[in-house]
Amino acid sequence: MSPSRKLPTRRGKDLDITFDGRVVPCHEGDTVAAALLVAGIHEFGTTRDGDPRQPFCNMGTCFDCAVTIDGRPLIRACITPVRNGMDVTSTKGY
Ligand code: FES
Repeated sequence: MSPSRKLPTRRGKDLDITFDGRVVPCHEGDTVAAALLVAGIHEFGTTRDGDPRQPFCNMGTCFDCAVTIDGRPLIRACITPVRNGMDVTSTKGY
């Protein structure tokens, strides 16, 4: 395919989620991990030793992207689609 040829891009409607109280704009159809990474958030939590934790496999296997969503802990951000108003918080010490 020619590099000058553009494919149509369709995005879902605009949504907002929050991460540790920060509003994160995203689109319907995004995963939570994609929304956070696009917003420049790379630390989703910390390990027991306090080291930063971020997505690794991006396919639901490693749990390195685990966050708390609407009060439910250890939800894998990489396989969870965003929903408007979703409250996401980082996971500390997991
Ligand atoms: S990045 Fe591995 S389970 Fe989400």
